[in-house]
Amino acid sequence: MSTLLTRLDELRDKAFGELKNLTSATDLEAFRVKYLGRKGAITGVLRELGSIEPEQRANVGAEANKLKNELTSAFEKHQESLKSKSIPDSKVDLTLPGRSRFLGKKHPISRTIDDIIDIFYSLGFSVAEGPDVETEWYNFDALNTPDDHPARDLADTFYIKDNILLRTHTSPVQIRTMENNKPPVRIIAPGRCYRKDTPDASHAPNFFQTEGLYVDKDVTFSDLKGVINIFARRLFGPEIKVRFRPHFFPFTEPSAEYDFSCLICKGDGCRACKHTGWVEISGAGMVDPAVFEAVGYDPEKYTGYAFGMGVDRITMLRYGIADIRYLYDNDLRVLRGI
Ligand code: PHE
Repeated sequence: MSTLLTRLDELRDKAFGELKNLTSATDLEAFRVKYLGRKGAITGVLRELGSIEPEQRANVGAEANKLKNELTSAFEKHQESLKSKSIPDSKVDLTLPGRSRFLGKKHPISRTIDDIIDIFYSLGFSVAEGPDVETEWYNFDALNTPDDHPARDLADTFYIKDNILLRTHTSPVQIRTMENNKPPVRIIAPGRCYRKDTPDASHAPNFFQTEGLYVDKDVTFSDLKGVINIFARRLFGPEIKVRFRPHFFPFTEPSAEYDFSCLICKGDGCRACKHTGWVEISGAGMVDPAVFEAVGYDPEKYTGYAFGMGVDRITMLRYGIADIRYLYDNDLRVLRGI
């Protein structure tokens, strides 16, 4: 048998074997060039016809053409079937809606802290910071909080070891600031605080406060009320009402707790305000002279006010969140909606 006929047989096996596995347009084109092109394998055989016995030429030529025709039609069929399976013309359909990408955003607590900072900046306050892990001196003693105060109890506070604890409020930043600065002092201090509270709708073992402190000559309680009122209106709008209730804190005298009117029910009473129409924000008062003495300020010369703010409460009020745990569960279904 002519060697060219053998070659044609081998070519047939190889080509049909390869054709089945072609999937891309590039592979198809490479296949076409390799076997069916002007310089392809079949043409190669035809070119060699001149070198064989004349009586075999017709036969080999016919076989080569037959293979070419069969392969061409098989090739076209395969090409068609690939096309029908893929995207038309494998072009992008620009009319399809785009895939939306999830964009992260700031946590509602961070947004509230940013807004609190903006408002107090505009009133001349700067931002101070202190560590989350505190000593008893900064968290209690320097704040005139005696040994038998319930906040110092192991049951209420996370102690790391003797004398070292997770701060229960941001008030230690008052002490740190006054130790390092002479009056006048006008700061706010946002940050995380920790208490051994069992979680429920309004308690979490970690939460956020923002402390405020203003010390100068002739600072009065009405300055304190004024600044809290301005803050409330800037953050919540002119409708908001603020009330102060007498209270006790070891580090302020006189002391008060203050509430904002509930914006969820507009003061009528709802679950979020425990049907009182008011939401407790935190405590405030005039800095106790004992605190000034602890940091070396002259209480005869200076007066000052201090306040705390429950950032979580304010956030819940702003966004209408009924349960503080929503802020800490990291459930994206909730956080995305806020
Ligand atoms: N530190 C107090 C608390 O956490 C709040 C407070 C701050 C009270 C400043 C008076 C002055 O409850």
